[in-house]
Parts: sequence; C-alpha cells; structure tokens
Amino acid sequence: MDLYEYQARDLFEKYEVPVLAGIVADTPEEAKAAAEKLGGVVVVKAQVKTGGRGKAGGVKVAKTPDEAYDAAKAILGLDIKGHVVKRVMVAAGASIEKEFYFSVLLDRANRSYLSLASVEGGMEIEQLAVEKPEALARVEVDPIVGIDHAKALEIAKAANFDDELAPKVADVFVKLFNVYKGEDATLVEVNPLIQSADGEIIALDGKVTLDENAEFRHASHALLEDKAAADPLEAKAKENDLNYVKLDGQVGIIGNGAGLVMSTLDVVAYAGENHGGVKPANFLDIGGGASAEVMAAGLDVILGDPQVKSVFVNVFGGITACDAVAKGIVGALAELGSTASKPLVVRLDGNRVEEGRKILQDANHPLVTLAATMDEGADKAAELANA
Ligand SMILES: Nc1ncnc2c1ncn2[C@@H]1O[C@H](COP(=O)(O)OP(=O)(O)O)[C@@H](O)[C@H]1O
Ligand SMILES: [Mg+2]
Repeated sequence: MDLYEYQARDLFEKYEVPVLAGIVADTPEEAKAAAEKLGGVVVVKAQVKTGGRGKAGGVKVAKTPDEAYDAAKAILGLDIKGHVVKRVMVAAGASIEKEFYFSVLLDRANRSYLSLASVEGGMEIEQLAVEKPEALARVEVDPIVGIDHAKALEIAKAANFDDELAPKVADVFVKLFNVYKGEDATLVEVNPLIQSADGEIIALDGKVTLDENAEFRHASHALLEDKAAADPLEAKAKENDLNYVKLDGQVGIIGNGAGLVMSTLDVVAYAGENHGGVKPANFLDIGGGASAEVMAAGLDVILGDPQVKSVFVNVFGGITACDAVAKGIVGALAELGSTASKPLVVRLDGNRVEEGRKILQDANHPLVTLAATMDEGADKAAELANA
C-alpha cells in the first residue's frame, strides 16, 4: 500500500526524522486557515499517489494566506497523471540550499535491501539513473544488520556527501531506516532531502510503501487506507479475504492457487484471440478452502463487474476435493439467485473429480457448462463472452 505524502510525513515525525509542519486541507478555505496557522511562506502541495507533482503544477509557493487560498483552488481538482487531487497539504516553506536523494527498498531479485542515495536530488530518480548513473550510489543493506550509523556513513560516502555533511545526513538515514523496519515498509524514499539555509537536514517529500503482508502486525495501518479511492470491487474482495485484481477484459476468472490462476489468465487471453479478442476480466484466487461461502463471495465480486460477460471457474482439487468445490458452486448459485445471470464454464480436475462433475451434472443449472480440460474451458468461456 502506497501512502500519501502527508501520511509519510506523519510517520517520519513519529521516528524523529526532521520534517516541516504540514496541515491537510480539502478546500481553499481550509488551506487559507492552515496558512494562517503556520504563518510565513507556505507551500501548497497536491496529495496524490504519484510523483512529479511539482512539474505538473501540483506544488505552489504561497506568501500569504490569500495566496494559499488561490493555490489550493488551482490545485484541487487538478488531474496529475490520471490522479485527481482531492486534498492538499499546506507545508511550511523551506529555504533550500541543496537537494539530495535517499531511499531504502526491498530488493527482491537479490533477496536483500538496497539503499540509493545521491547528492543530486530534486530531479526524478528514474531520470537521474539514466542521465547520470555515476551520481547515484547503490549500496546493499544486509536485512539482518540494517542501516546502523556505520552503514549510513558508508552510504553517504558512496553518494559523495562531503565530510561535513556525511555524518549529518547519516543520522537521518538511520532514522529513515527505522521507519522502513519499524513499519514493515518495502520502500521509504525522500526526494528531496534538503539542506536548508541554516544548515538543517530535512525530509521535504516522502514516499512510503507498506508491506500489506505485515498488516497483522500494525493495527494502525488500516487507518491509512484510502477507502474512498479504492476500487469498490477490490474493496469487497478484500473484506472477504479474496486475492482479487481487476483487469480490463470480459471473461471473469476464478481458480485455486495463484499459479493456476496465472496460467488460466494466459490460456483465456490466448483463446480470446479466436473470439473477438476477449480478455480476462480479473485475477481471483480463492485459495485452498473453496467452500460455498468463498465461492459465493468470489462469484459475487466477479459478477458485480459490469464488463464481465462470462465466468471461467478453473479448479484443481487437492486438499479441497472437487466434490466440495462442486457443492460450493451449486450452493453459491443458489445463494446468489437471480444475481447470477452470466454463463459459467467450470473445469474440475484432481481429487474426487468424478464425484464433483456428477454433482454439477445432477444440479443441471442452466447457466453452467462443464469443460473437460482447461483449454476447452477457456475456449468455451471466451466464446460465450463474445456471444
Ligand atoms: N515545503 C517546501 N518548501 C520549499 N520548497 C518545497 C517544499 N516542498 C517542496 N518544495 C519544492 O518543490 C519541489 C517538488 O516537490 P516534491 O514534494 O518533491 O513533489 P514531487 O516530487 O511530486 O514533484 C521540491 O523538489 C522542492 O524544490
Ligand atoms: Mg519529490
């Protein structure tokens, strides 16, 4: 889960990372009041989960509360790379001497952590990596040891901070790593980290990605979720503990096991080429326990997507046997009643497959077609979606 800048700022403050005062505002009036409260020069900043806000006109300096009002009025409603601004943060204005870059992130490929740092901050890091790769230090961080003061100094030196600055920024790197570790983040990025005119090191912009698999350790993270911005179907799936990702196609997919669902997406996309180019509408893994309730919840989510024209249920019976899954499907259709109005192609294989198929045949539901193989099922579902 990505956080908004103001949420990252709050987390930084909790870990004693130096930040400037900031107040969120949803209207120009609130922005004006915030500027009055902060006093002096402020910066009005769009709160959207994408970078490059500055360039897109989403960061504006305001010298007076009235200017803050105007800035907020201009920024609220702005579309920044497809993200519409609903909220701004009014931040105290810094007088910037120098801009730096720092991040620490999960390096999946190397099963490790990686820290990136540069004395050339401010510009987009992707651009810096391409145009001036020598200015971007990449230092591996041992996940067991983390970034202690010695490691932080090593990072600062690798990034060419001079002898006076290195220990100062190193202090902040350690605190930023404490955020990374303490909150189970997979990314903590500060761009820019600045040196102010009076020599302070301050995190002026923050991006934090939290590891959702660690949510159980952080009750407070649920409060950071932006429920209004989430896709309603994804929110519903989440409520039911389903692994659901909405895609753009017409064939709803339900399977058990991430690997099987991934291959089902491929097979359906391939079959779709022969049927008007229909594509998978979602990824949905119902996991091990394909009970009637789980199946009903899954079908309910998928059928709630108006783009879906047919559904392909592809289940390999293992610990949960095919007859239990078949009962689940029959039960789900009974539970959903007239809400289930789209054709369903079911392919079952594995443990107790004969019993499972028999249950579906006996139920003889008008919407259900049985397929013998995965390819056949994909082809049938694509054909029905294109009908
Ligand atoms: N509180 C602030 N005071 C002064 N300048 C700021 C402040 N916040 C941002 N800026 C300036 O605006 C630029 C862009 O802001 P930033 O928060 O990094 O947004 P983004 O990365 O989305 O463009 C920064 O590089 C900095 O120069
Ligand atoms: Mg930035």
